[in-house]
Order: sequence, then C-alpha cells, then structure tokens
Amino acid sequence: MCGIVGYIGKREAYPILIKGLHRLEYRGYDSAGVALLDSKANLHVYKTRGKVVNLENYCKDKNVSGTIGIAHTRWATHGEPSDVNAHPHYSQSETLALIHNGIIENYLSLKQMLERKGYKFVSQTDTEVLVQFIEYIKTENKCSLYEAVHQALSQVIGAYAIGVLEKGNADTLVAARKGSPLIVGIGEAGEYFLGSDASPIVEYTKDVIYLNDEDIVEIRRGVGEIMIKNLSNVVLKPQVQKIRMDLSEIEKGGFAHFMLKEIFEQPKSLMMCMNGRVQSELQEIMLSGIRDNIEKFRNARRILISACGTSWHAALIGKYLIEYYCKIPVEVEVASEFRYRNPVIFEDDVMIAISQSGETADTLAAIELAKEKGTFIYGICNVVGSSVARATHSGTYTHAGPEIGVASTKAFTTQVAVLTMITLLLGKELGTIDRTTYKSLVRELDSIPEKIEKIVAKADEIEEMSKVFTYARNFMYLGRGYNYPVALEGALKLKEISYIHAEGYPAAEMKHGPIALVDEEMPIVVVAPKFKMYDKIVSNVEELKARKGKIIAIVSEGDKNISNIADYVIEIPNTEECLSPLLTVIPLQLLSYYIATAKGRNVDQPRNLAKSVTVE
Ligand code: M6R
Repeated sequence: MCGIVGYIGKREAYPILIKGLHRLEYRGYDSAGVALLDSKANLHVYKTRGKVVNLENYCKDKNVSGTIGIAHTRWATHGEPSDVNAHPHYSQSETLALIHNGIIENYLSLKQMLERKGYKFVSQTDTEVLVQFIEYIKTENKCSLYEAVHQALSQVIGAYAIGVLEKGNADTLVAARKGSPLIVGIGEAGEYFLGSDASPIVEYTKDVIYLNDEDIVEIRRGVGEIMIKNLSNVVLKPQVQKIRMDLSEIEKGGFAHFMLKEIFEQPKSLMMCMNGRVQSELQEIMLSGIRDNIEKFRNARRILISACGTSWHAALIGKYLIEYYCKIPVEVEVASEFRYRNPVIFEDDVMIAISQSGETADTLAAIELAKEKGTFIYGICNVVGSSVARATHSGTYTHAGPEIGVASTKAFTTQVAVLTMITLLLGKELGTIDRTTYKSLVRELDSIPEKIEKIVAKADEIEEMSKVFTYARNFMYLGRGYNYPVALEGALKLKEISYIHAEGYPAAEMKHGPIALVDEEMPIVVVAPKFKMYDKIVSNVEELKARKGKIIAIVSEGDKNISNIADYVIEIPNTEECLSPLLTVIPLQLLSYYIATAKGRNVDQPRNLAKSVTVE
C-alpha cells in the first residue's frame, strides 16, 4: 500500500504534506513525491526514490510555495522503485498531477488506446496511464477536472484512492476512492485535508469524512463546501465523523522504534481491548457483537476463519480455542488461497475475518466470496471504519490503538484476546464450557496484561542474548498445540525484520524432515511452557541437543527440566494453556527486534514490505 496526503487552505501546504508523509511512511517507503500549485497556479512536481527525507533534501532549493498540494509515499506495484515511477505523475501536457494508491487493472488496454492517440509514457506505472486518460477525456470533452475524473473512473477497472491537481486551478482538489481507503479532514475556516488514513490529519482536526467506494469528491477553496458524488452521479451528503485517535498514539514516545513501543504497549493495548468486555468482578465476558448474533453461531455448520500473515497465525489459535471450548468445527483459511480455490461455502457457515488494518485485499476478497454465498461474516479488526469493518455483518474491534511498525505485535495479542473472549462467551452460551472453567478463564484473562509487564521487564536480558545470534543465517521455531502458531509467528517476525531465514514447525513434525538442518550453527527456539504436551517437548529438545542444536527455550516460571538442557532460557509467568500464546509470543517479538537492531536493520520499515497489502 502507499500513503496519500493532501491539503487545501490558507496555510503553506508543503510543511503539512511533508509531515504527513513522515507519518504515512510506514505504508510504503520506496519513493516519495509532492505536487504543489503556487500563487500563480503553476504546477510543480518533485519526486525522488527512497525515503521522505530524500524528498526533503531534494526540495531544499525548489519552489515549494503554495497553499494547495498533494503528496505520496510509495510501495511499488507496477514499475521498480525509481524517481520516474514515483508519484505524483504528470499528464502529457504537465497540466495535471495525480497520486494513486491501488492498481488499475485495465491499464494496458487504456495505455494502448492512448498511445494510438499519440500519448507518450515515461514511467512503467498504471498511475501514469490514469492521469493521461483523465487529460485525454478533459481535452476531448472540454469538461471540468471533476467531470474528467468522473468519466475516466467510470471506465477504469481496479482499485484506487487518488488525488488530482490541475495547473491554472489553484482552488480545486479532486479525490476519489474505490477499494483503497481515503479520508477527508475538515479543518478550520475552509481548510481541508486528504489522507489515506487519519495519521496525517489528526494533528489538525478530528472531523473527518470517510469516503465510500466509488465516491468522487471536489474540494473547492473559498466555497467552503465539498461536493461528493458517486460514479452513478448521485450527490451524497457528507457524513462527518470524529476520529478516535490521539497524536501521541502515532508518535514514538521516546522509543527507538515504533515496533519496540508497540511491544511494550501490549499490557495497555490488551487492557483497552478487554475494557468493559472482560468483567472481572462479575467474572463475565460482554461482547455485544456475539451476544446479538448468538443464533448465527449456535446454528453454524462450521466456522471459517480467514486472514493473512500474522492475523492468520492468530486465526490458527482461534481454531484451537473454538474447537476445544465450543465444539464447533473450524477451518482456517489463508485468504489469498481461499478466494481462488473455489471453496465449498455453506449458507449456514459463519466466517470470522481477521485483519489489523482492515484493508488487506485478499481478506476483503474472501469476505466478498463468502458473502455471495449468504454466509454471516464477523470481523475482528483494529482500524475503526476500515473496509473490513464495513464489509462484515458484525464484529469486534481490537482497540489496540494505531500499529505503525510494519511487524505486527500488539495487533496479534489483541486479536488472540478477542478470539479468546469470543470463545468464552460462545462456550458459555452454547453450554459447551462449564461454569467453573469459564469463570476461572475470565479471571485469568484479566490478569494477562500484568503478566506481560513481567516479561517486557526482561527486555535487557533478551537483548543481551540476542547479540549471540546475529551470526545465524537460519533459525528454527518449534511449538505444540496453542503454541505451534506462536512458533510460526516468531519465525515470521524474525524473517521480516532481520532478513534471517526462519521456519516454524509443530515440534513433533521436526523428525519428518527439518531435523536434517540441525547442527551446531542452528539456533532453535522452542516454545515449551509446562502443559500437557510438556514431556513430549522435553524429548524433542533432547533430540535437538543430541545433534548439537543451540536451544533457546521459552518455559514456564520455575521450569527445571528444559532449563537444564537448553542453552538459553526465557521464563514466562504461569497461566492457563489456552492463554499461554499471549505470553509466549512476547519474548519472541523482543528476540526478533533485538537481533534485527543488532544487525542494523530498519525494523519499522523492513525492505520490500509495507504495513498492509492492499493489492493482490
Ligand atoms: O492488516 P492485516 O492484519 O490484514 O495484515 C495481514 C498481514 O499483511 C500482516 O499481518 C503481515 O504479515 C505483518 N507484516 C506481519 O508482521
């Protein structure tokens, strides 16, 4: 995904746009650019490969004056990261400049048509095709910018959030969305902001309009009004909402990286997630989304959980939880596979879709597919008002607060907490969980934030340990039961931020192949808290030690057996087995973070990645 910011008002636009780009950089950081209209309505576009700071350096001696502008930070889809492929893109006559998030799927046929009309292209992007197409329509039909955008988008197939400026027209900013989020912020005295999320806007205003798919907005200076129409030309009344986000939530607050801040924030984010839902005094779970739809779950033939990446790992834990405590069959589906394999979906299935961002293209497609079959869809999502939140019939927000680090941390633990709350409430309502177990799990869930505090307090110890492993080129992660998905998550965390190859396996599966990789060079993280499979994991650890593997074990407080065999040990406080992933994942997050920083990696902006994958 990419980041979009725009401004029209009385202030100088450039500082607002640059600050906005820094806030959006987590969404994409391979190139950045800005377009401004100066006081004479001349259009200036500046763009460059690399981070926003490169753009700032590039602009130092440029004319960046003007009170209207758009800016973009890119995660490449069509065309490699380069100056020329960076946004904004000019149209041929350099009278239009456009920024875009998404993919224009029919760009090739549009490009061929435009080439036949004499249009020349300088980049490899689908975005340049769109801006040329808008210019073509505008010239042919002698219409306004808004009208040209409207006509162009009526013929476009694909996903987009766009912002467009026109030379000679310093009073108008046109923007539109379909499939990629876009927000209009309403500031003071006729100033307006544009953002692909709230982060570049929240410093200036909390009043926003979330554009819907196929909305096209014209923001005109001086008129003090915005006009929104959809592709069917219906004029829409702007629905102004308040953003529930504070500036401090999107700042590092003294931490070296957002990822570290977000790891340390987990006790708080879990408390926010459970606030009013885990009622420890009453020993009850309150989740209106589940309570209001209990019959859907009661009558469910099975539950499908669909997600990607870290959210998929949380989904796997959901399967263990729901099958054990609610006795409903659960199938967990990687959304990108599910959507294309012609799956059997029943009307009486229930789908749970999990997404931190709520904008993951594959997860959204899986939702649409299940919806077509008449399935009831329940969302678990962090970003309020996101596409997943709107596409689902009901759901639960994780309320983790904004997650800026590309590597997901607090999103995972809050997703697991929501799945746990859903399980407990369903189990109680369906009568599959006995009262004593229910109450004791509710109490224990309530104590998890405090226990995470104790683990993050060991950060220095984990940092010291991590220095030993910067040499490693491969890592193995093993776990069983509820902690098998934690092993997968630990491996993903390490891969994405340190670029060390890592694999997660169910511990018993090791003997079916992966053990061949083990030698004295191979660090193996074994997630082994003391539960019913403990003795079996002890045997696994012995087998690995016999082959000289370097064992880092995550064990329960006071563990004696594995502690004596393993090379390194991190203890976690005791808890119930089904809640243990909420604790065991924390040392794995810290280990990845410290290994990656010791290797000098940019953990908040790992190479090739972006915070959420809004394209297939
Ligand atoms: O926003 P989502 O939860 O839908 O994102 C899914 C994955 O793209 C995401 O979890 C990704 O795997 C993270 N970078 C992992 O840290």
